[in-house]
Amino acid sequence: MSPDDLKISSLKIFLTIRGQRDPRRAAHATWPDGYARNPATAEPFRAGGRVAIYLQYRRPLLQRGVMIRKWANRLRYSTRYVKLHDMLFWQPKEQTLDKAMMYARWGRLTGDYLEFGVYNGWSMSTAYHFAQLHRMPRMRFFGFDSFEGLPDINGVDVGPFQQFLKGQLRCDQATTARKMRRWGADMSKVHLISGWYNDTLKPALRDELDLKKAAMVHIDCDLYESTAPVLDFILPLLQDGTIIILDDWYLYRANPRQGERRAFTEWVERHDDIIEATPFPCATWHEAAFIMHLRNQ
Ligand SMILES: C[S@@+](CC[C@H](N)C(=O)[O-])C[C@H]1O[C@@H](n2cnc3c(N)ncnc32)[C@H](O)[C@@H]1O
Repeated sequence: MSPDDLKISSLKIFLTIRGQRDPRRAAHATWPDGYARNPATAEPFRAGGRVAIYLQYRRPLLQRGVMIRKWANRLRYSTRYVKLHDMLFWQPKEQTLDKAMMYARWGRLTGDYLEFGVYNGWSMSTAYHFAQLHRMPRMRFFGFDSFEGLPDINGVDVGPFQQFLKGQLRCDQATTARKMRRWGADMSKVHLISGWYNDTLKPALRDELDLKKAAMVHIDCDLYESTAPVLDFILPLLQDGTIIILDDWYLYRANPRQGERRAFTEWVERHDDIIEATPFPCATWHEAAFIMHLRNQ
C-alpha cells in the first residue's frame, strides 16, 4: 500500500466514523490537523489556509446566513421599519416628482406647477421642495380642489368597478394651508383655489390667476368626471414639453374605460391635430406621466 493509498483509506475511515459518506459533504470534511482536504487525493487544498477555512465553515456560514435573513426580514417588513424607511428615504411618489422636476429643469421649461386634487397638500409641498432643489425658484404653485372631498360619483366612475365614494379625501383649505406651511412650503408662492372644477375651471380663471404656461400639471382628482374639465382647462397652457402626471392611471383595475385614463385618452384623441404625448417613466404602481408636444411647433 502506497502512502497515498494509506491517506485515502484513513480519510474514508475518518469520514465513516463522522457519518459523512456523502461525497459532497466529504469535500468539506477536515482532517484532525484542522485542514480541509480533497477527498479524492487526501491532499490539503492547494490554495491553502483561506480556502480550507472557507470550506470548513461554508455550511455553518450558510446556515447563519439563513438565520440572519430570517431575522432581517422580520425587521425589514415590520411596520416600524417601514415607517423609519419612509422617513429616511423618498417614497415612490416623491421619486416621480423629483424626476419630473429634474426633467423640467433639464428641458429648461418655464411656467407654473398646477395641481388638480390637493387634499392635505402633501404632494404639492413635495413638488415645491423639488422645484427649489432643482433650482427653479421662479416657479409658482397653483392647487385646485373643492376642499370638500370627492363629488357625487356618477357616469363611468360608477362601474364596472367603483373605486371611490362621495366625500372621500376631504381636507378643508385652512388645514391644507397650515400643513403645507408646516411642511416647509413658502406660501407666498402657493395659491390654493377652492371650488368644484365644473364651476371654477373657466377661461376667465386663467386670466384672473395670470396663467400663461404650465411647466408641470399634476392631476390627482381620481375621477373621469373631474379629470375631463381639468384637461380642457389646461389645453391653452400647454407648451412643447409640458409634463402631465396622472396619479390614478392604474386605478379602477386599470380599466381603460374609467377614471383619469379614459379622460386623458379621449382628450388626446379629440385634439390629435394639435397635441401628441410621449410617455415619461414613473416610480409608483398607480401613476402615468406624459410629455406633451404641440404639433404646430
Ligand atoms: C387623492 S386626493 C389628492 C391627493 C394629493 N394630490 C396628495 O397626494 O397629497 C383627491 C382630491 O381631489 C379633489 N377633487 C376630486 N374631484 C374634484 C372636483 N370635481 N372638484 C374639485 N376637487 C375635486 C378632492 O377634493 C380630493 O381632495
